[in-house]
Amino acid sequence: MRVSSPNKHHKTMRIRSLEDYTAAYRKSVDEPERFWADIADTFIWNQKWDKVLDWNFEDYYAKWFIGAKTNITTNCLDRHLLSQPEKTAIIWEPNDPNEPEIRLSYRQLYEKVCAFSNVLKKHGVKKGDRVVLYMPMVPELAIGVLACARIGAIHSVVFAGFSASALSDRINDAQATVVLSSDGNFRGTKDIAVKAIVDEALQSCPSIQKQIVLKRTGAKVEMQQGRDFWWHQELENLTQTDCEAEIMDSEDPLFILYTSGSTGKPKGVVHHIGGYMVYTKYSFENVFQYNEGDIYWCTADIGWITGHSYIVYGPLLAGATTVMFEGVPTFPDAGRFWQVVEKYKISLFYTAPTAIRALQAQGDAWVKKHDLSSLRVLGSVGEPINEEAWQWYYQNVGKNNCPIVDTWWQTETGGIMISPLAGITPTKPTYATLPLPGVQPVLLDGEGKELKGNGVEGNLCIKFPWPSMIRTTYGDHERCQQTYFGMYKGYYFTGDGCRRDPDGYYRILGRVDDVINVSGHRMGTAEVEDAINQHPAVVESAVVGYPHEIKGQGIYAFVICDGEAVAQSSIEQLRKEILQTVTQHIGAIAKPDKIQIVTGLPKTRSGKIMRRILRKIAEGDTSNLGDTTTLLDPAVVDEIKEGAKEFHTA
Ligand code: WT7
Repeated sequence: MRVSSPNKHHKTMRIRSLEDYTAAYRKSVDEPERFWADIADTFIWNQKWDKVLDWNFEDYYAKWFIGAKTNITTNCLDRHLLSQPEKTAIIWEPNDPNEPEIRLSYRQLYEKVCAFSNVLKKHGVKKGDRVVLYMPMVPELAIGVLACARIGAIHSVVFAGFSASALSDRINDAQATVVLSSDGNFRGTKDIAVKAIVDEALQSCPSIQKQIVLKRTGAKVEMQQGRDFWWHQELENLTQTDCEAEIMDSEDPLFILYTSGSTGKPKGVVHHIGGYMVYTKYSFENVFQYNEGDIYWCTADIGWITGHSYIVYGPLLAGATTVMFEGVPTFPDAGRFWQVVEKYKISLFYTAPTAIRALQAQGDAWVKKHDLSSLRVLGSVGEPINEEAWQWYYQNVGKNNCPIVDTWWQTETGGIMISPLAGITPTKPTYATLPLPGVQPVLLDGEGKELKGNGVEGNLCIKFPWPSMIRTTYGDHERCQQTYFGMYKGYYFTGDGCRRDPDGYYRILGRVDDVINVSGHRMGTAEVEDAINQHPAVVESAVVGYPHEIKGQGIYAFVICDGEAVAQSSIEQLRKEILQTVTQHIGAIAKPDKIQIVTGLPKTRSGKIMRRILRKIAEGDTSNLGDTTTLLDPAVVDEIKEGAKEFHTA
């Protein structure tokens, strides 16, 4: 195997000052292909590219490092075997602090990934096949992901909080042949019956041939002969433990990750190998200002993009030590995060505003109890961080000493797009500040005209490709084109509103489409409505987001039920059943916070629900509902306003 050796000058790619940033940014705009080629040169490729970039946003496509060959795990694992085999790659902290942690060196991780790659191969998984992972946050989840990548299979991790029905939708969309699961999942005081959920899902998943089950909790499970296999037994039965990495094309798919959009059907966002690899490492090192010796902890779940890019791939590509946490922030008590920071002397800490607000609400004593002096950089991701939470994080967790990187990005962008570089970019609370090199944000007005200059507000778009951008939505390229490139010709549309202040700093204002962000989890209003409508008594529903103190946004559902049902069962009973229906169809994360039973919805004469009005009512602001004269039945608004009072008395 001929492998090109990485460029020795890669240290110069690191941004260490504001001057470096300015220079890098300018180069990335003036000579984007040269800029990214220099960075890509620092990776191991089996074959170099013929062309760095080929793109056209009008007729959407963008391809990076065309003709290049590599395997991302060669860069995550094999590469470090030469230079730092005994360095800890993954520290795993269990749900229960009394259970011992696990540390895997780069050598051990490499061996485990190779071994499990052989298990997958033995079960018939080949390059291009889809493997779904529905698992707890345990090292085997990362191992499973990397094993897929090693043999060229496409992984699709489904967050283990989703219901059986949501899981089967995703398996069927991906036409996956193998699912990786576990017996159970320890989450706080709960032991979730993972295998039972997967079994239920598999009743409607004809494409699945095999399920490989990790023993985690010891819960009793039923194994279906010929279909289900124990993870540990498969490893014991192996005759071959090493596994050469499959040579992949830069533009081969690496993974599918389902996310919510404006229809009820989840979108399979597809990321491809070369560009994703280059961008996740580059952004990880520069945003967090990672240094050798740092202990890095991202509290996300690998079921979301943050976990893919910044627990697994980015940190491992950089040769860092990455912490994986199985538990929840409040078990056994609200000091859990800070206890873990102290235990491992975490220097780089990355979490979500919703967690920050929830822990802030528990009082400062929990933070004060622990020695947090190892912290150097704090990160925030997933939703806008409000000023109070920012200040609390900065003062109480960071002791006024750690820069906060408020990182704006999306499942579709693959990596961090707008963010301070820790300690380099002067921060401003609630601002994601400046774009990373290679990222060209623009703000467009309603007509799609670029708003030039500073002190403007509009829809956030990106006008030039970056390496880790979404390539397609699985099985439906048309949807990818329409969603991201159909709105404004020639631009990638993010779905976010944004302000550029007089200093040129970017502040994300939140979604302007039908997507809501609950505790940093993205939810389509249509998806939640579809779930609610499954209840036999529901005639129609409309879901909107509203400001929520801890979750950022809460889910408010306006529901029309058939008259007989309302008469027969109490409203409380109906609400309970609707919550159960949503839990069954999506998962507990999508449960509405408020359900208002109504007799009608504000619709235009053409039958379109005027969500603007519902949003106002949900916010509790009914003083100015704007123009309601175009409504089919303006009286319905008064009735809804009246009914909403019960939620706004507190
Ligand atoms: C949406 C993407 C990116 C990983 C987690 C979420 C919102 C994300 C920020 C931030 C303000 C943010 C946006 C975005 N968002 N980060 N730092 N400040 N808003 O990924 O589920 O794909 O959601 O999350 O609205 O569009 P996702």
